[in-house]
Order: sequence, then C-alpha cells, then structure tokens
Amino acid sequence: MGKERLDKLLAATGRWSRREAKELIRGGRVLVDGKSAGSGEEKADPAESEILVDGLPLGYQKYTYIMLHKPAGVLTATEDHRQKTVLDLLSPELRRRNLSPVGRLDKDTEGLLLLTNDGALAHRLLAPKSHVDKVYYARLDKAFGAGDQAAFAAGIVLEDGLICMPAGLTLLGDGTEILVTLHEGKFHQIKRMVASRGGAVCYLKRIAMGPLELDPTLRKGEYRALTEEEVAKIGGKP
Ligand code: URA
Repeated sequence: MGKERLDKLLAATGRWSRREAKELIRGGRVLVDGKSAGSGEEKADPAESEILVDGLPLGYQKYTYIMLHKPAGVLTATEDHRQKTVLDLLSPELRRRNLSPVGRLDKDTEGLLLLTNDGALAHRLLAPKSHVDKVYYARLDKAFGAGDQAAFAAGIVLEDGLICMPAGLTLLGDGTEILVTLHEGKFHQIKRMVASRGGAVCYLKRIAMGPLELDPTLRKGEYRALTEEEVAKIGGKP
C-alpha cells in the first residue's frame, strides 16, 4: 500500500482519534521496527514495517467490511439530523472508519446490509451491469400465484412505466409469503413490483446479496465483520 503518516494509520483503525494518535506517538508509545516514532508526520508502510502500540501490533487493515442485520425503523444513511441511521448502530470505533452502506434498504425493511469503506468495491457491487442478485423474503396482504410468477419472470412494468428486469419469484406456503430475487435495485422495487400485481408488502427482509447470506445468528441490530472467505467472495481486499 505504500507509506502513510503514522497518525493517519493509527486513526484509520478506529481505535483512536487523530489527536489521540498524535499524543500516543509523542508519548513514545508507538514503535516502528523497534524504534520510537518521533511524530505523527513520520511515515511507515504497515505491510513492510512492524508497528507496535504499547507493545501490541497495530493490526492495521485498509478496509473494513461489516454485515449488519438492519432492523426496521432506522434509515440507510450515514447521518441524519432527526432520525436514527444504520451508522448509529455501530460502535464508536467503527463509526470513525468512514463506512457507508452498500445500497439502500427502506426504513421499514429489515435484513442484510453491507457497510464498507472500500469505495471501489461498493461501486462495483452497485453498478447496474454487475447484476448482483439480491434475495428478499416478503409477506403480502394476499396470496400470489403462478400468474404473478410468470409476470415477474417476464419483467414487471411499474406504474410509472419503468421496466424491471426479469425477477425470480418463489411462492412459499399459501402464496402470501414469497422469495424474490432481483438483479437490479430500483427505488422501492419490491413494493412497487408487488403493487403492480395488485398486492401490498406487509413485511420485507433482505436475506442475501450476491454470495453473502444474512448470518442467522445475528439478531436485529447486530453486526459482525465479514470473514476472510466472505471478503474474498465479494472481491474485497483482505
Ligand atoms: N425493495 C423495496 O421495496 N424496499 C427495499 O427496501 C428493498 C427492495
């Protein structure tokens, strides 16, 4: 990755603010290859040099990838003056890492949301031509059937004339519960697709995005870092 300022490297872990990092360095608590660092302006390459803070490895990772089980009632945004956002659910340490949600879930939608500071990856995952599959579980106010499945497979035309790509529709039980697989992400897409068939979505949850599946052990509002395997699967950087 090349050399970076030490105060920046320390702050990027989210464990210290830039000011705290400078104080640690000035206090002689940061060693680079065994030598006490002089100031935050000093540069080091974490891939080449051993950086210790109070004797412990810095554990620097350029990018952070978080899987959040988004609960209903929070906005998919990085900040809002009035309402709680998904960033508010994270620890202060993670909030300092400049994470952004990859794509949006509506305020009342639950489920899998990826947050990262790897902007290039987010861009790739969201690019329309990437066609990353997103799978949603929905409960409806009426039962869907084979006709709806055929309409989803053919490509729904929304009320405003927007044409959706063919989407997968699996009927569960009596048809009031469905799984929908989208290859794109238009605003309120599932709700509008269901509305175009005369139904309404009562509950919506995203359960998968590309190769990532919502971890069933995460309760609503909980999150965890992606495993190395998951990072590799989505094309992130270790
Ligand atoms: N479709 C919707 O209608 N809402 C979401 O949050 C995601 C997909």
